[in-house]
Amino acid sequence: MIRILVTGANGQMGQALQSISNQFIGFEFVFLASKVLNISNIEDCNRNFEHYKPNICVNFAAYTNVEKAEEEIELAYQVNAEGCKNLAEVCLLYDTTLVHLSTDFVFDGQQNTPYRISDTPNPINVYGASKWKGEQYIQHFLVKYYIIRTSWVYSEFGHNFRNTMLKLAQTKSEINVVNDQIGCPTYALDICHFMMNLISTKKYGLVHFRGDRICSWYDFAVSIFEENNIDIKVNPIRTTEYPTKAKRPQYSVLE
Ligand SMILES: NC(=O)c1ccc[n+]([C@@H]2O[C@H](COP(=O)([O-])OP(=O)(O)OC[C@H]3O[C@@H](n4cnc5c(N)ncnc54)[C@H](OP(=O)(O)O)[C@@H]3O)[C@@H](O)[C@H]2O)c1
Repeated sequence: MIRILVTGANGQMGQALQSISNQFIGFEFVFLASKVLNISNIEDCNRNFEHYKPNICVNFAAYTNVEKAEEEIELAYQVNAEGCKNLAEVCLLYDTTLVHLSTDFVFDGQQNTPYRISDTPNPINVYGASKWKGEQYIQHFLVKYYIIRTSWVYSEFGHNFRNTMLKLAQTKSEINVVNDQIGCPTYALDICHFMMNLISTKKYGLVHFRGDRICSWYDFAVSIFEENNIDIKVNPIRTTEYPTKAKRPQYSVLE
């Protein structure tokens, strides 16, 4: 039996994997929420690794609030960078393979062709920069790792754009959605299946995984409402009409 320890178990990806974990024969999953395993705390990491001695650690734990990260810079780095360093250190100690999710936000979005794994990251906000630092720690410490960069994750679980749109539709008859940021919505359960296939390949390293469709947030919102038979007016707006603290990449397509 291969034991997989999953961090950040109560987040969107953690819930998604929990919902299908019984499909993966030969694997035993240990799902740990942030209260049990705070990845920023090396003692927490050591204690849980000593107890479970996992063959694989899937790191879904992250500071994911892109807006708040611009103010809580230290906290974002503590989780997304130092947390990865801690996990990399204990993975090395216990000969555990680390599977880590990273993001399209490591790139600046200035290209107009899909970003390759060979392209150099150049994050334009704190969240992206902290995630990039986390990737670097993992690559520095480990050989047995998979870093999966993905984008615009959605599902029926937790916080994500789909669920935000559906919630907004309960109280609004008209909404404005940005139409000049381009990316690829990626279904959380597709990431789980991709990840579980990937770990059997032993082809370690960095990989990009994203949904097939390239679209704007506006296009994505329209599809969400259509699929759920919701009648709401959606107005396309420019990024400049929706000011945010954190800059967003204009073109966020992963190859
Ligand atoms: N969502 C996206 O669109 C997207 C896109 C690209 C990549 N990703 C990456 O995919 C991964 C999973 O994202 P997600 O959508 O599942 O995010 P999420 O729903 O925000 O879940 C993140 C989880 O991490 C936990 N966490 C925060 N700080 C922690 C710490 N110090 N120690 C342990 N756990 C901690 C949170 O627990 P609490 O709630 O208890 O704090 C939460 O359960 C992240 O690495 C993210 O960067 C996400």
